[in-house]
Amino acid sequence: MKVVRVHEYGGTEVLKHEEMPVPEPREGEARVKVEAIGVNFIDIYHRIGRYQGALPFTLGQEAAGTVEAVGPNVTEVKPGERVAYASVQGAYADYAIAPAWRLISIPTGVDTKQAAAVMIQGMTAHYLTLSTYPLKEGETALVHAAGGGTGQLLVQLAKRGGARVIGTVSTEEKAKLAREAGADEVIFYTQTDFEVEVKRLTNNTGVDVVYDSVGKDTFDKSLNCLRRRGYMVLYGASSGAVPPLDPQTLNAKGSIFLTRPFLGHYTADRAELLWRVNDLFTWMAAGELKVRIDKTFSLAAAAEAHHYLEGRQSKGKILLIP
Ligand SMILES: NC(=O)c1ccc[n+]([C@@H]2O[C@H](COP(=O)([O-])OP(=O)(O)OC[C@H]3O[C@@H](n4cnc5c(N)ncnc54)[C@H](OP(=O)(O)O)[C@@H]3O)[C@@H](O)[C@H]2O)c1
Repeated sequence: MKVVRVHEYGGTEVLKHEEMPVPEPREGEARVKVEAIGVNFIDIYHRIGRYQGALPFTLGQEAAGTVEAVGPNVTEVKPGERVAYASVQGAYADYAIAPAWRLISIPTGVDTKQAAAVMIQGMTAHYLTLSTYPLKEGETALVHAAGGGTGQLLVQLAKRGGARVIGTVSTEEKAKLAREAGADEVIFYTQTDFEVEVKRLTNNTGVDVVYDSVGKDTFDKSLNCLRRRGYMVLYGASSGAVPPLDPQTLNAKGSIFLTRPFLGHYTADRAELLWRVNDLFTWMAAGELKVRIDKTFSLAAAAEAHHYLEGRQSKGKILLIP
């Protein structure tokens, strides 16, 4: 089978296309014939060594396909079932091994590519709006990069919760996507001062929560957009990492809260995983949640997919097809 492996950290030139034997599942594991692979920033962070582990390794954390074989003591899935999963290393491959408890059956009404596309970004939008800061009817959320993959899903789920959503985007095309997702207001944060705009749109009160995946470029001003005792949810760093912060700043800005959440801590067991993914699949099958697949590349073109994401091009999910 073909895999994309990393032997040393670096640019896309370190992505090596190699042949490996098809793996056998052990106790509690299943082998999935991969049909669609999600491309995520975390893959880039693994490739460049921002997050380090043992070398060499197969890239990729998200996929969907069909269960081909299971090891002993697997009760969650059966061979022949269509499944999707996230947060298991090794998805950039024709076949992948995953712990069976992480595999979620895909219902009829949700296609395999759509299922692969929603796992990480959809579960992220789900935990941010329902668990990290559970949005209430009539509250206001500021969603950065609202025309990106996670952004469009976050906007839809925030609207589902009854919130008013202010989205930020860099282009006209992304503004259209953010509005289609339900954003009430859209700010072009590369052209105008979003802090000034948010204050104007909230009569100087500020928003209840900021969901910020951009990081370095938006963090400081985002703190200034919050209401007294508002919530700063920094969940990513697409523009770079945020420097260390003096806790006194949280006091000075109005006793605000700061959290830096991570998907793994919000999908810690099968019950939580099933809750989030089954909600998403149900809403997708009912046509209530739109998952936009922006672009698909072949597995052989993984480097191009990384350039696309790093180059600020993403307007939805990016998939690799083996
Ligand atoms: N904590 C978690 O659990 C979690 C889960 C998922 C993702 N994340 C993190 O969130 C961040 C975004 O990932 P994503 O899946 O949300 O991707 P995404 O939705 O597709 O977001 C990418 C968007 O970010 C914006 N952006 C702003 N500055 C950028 C820059 N310098 N380079 C690239 N994009 C830039 C761009 O929109 P504009 O052009 O409109 O600015 C771009 O379209 C990553 O750091 C990722 O690791 C964290």
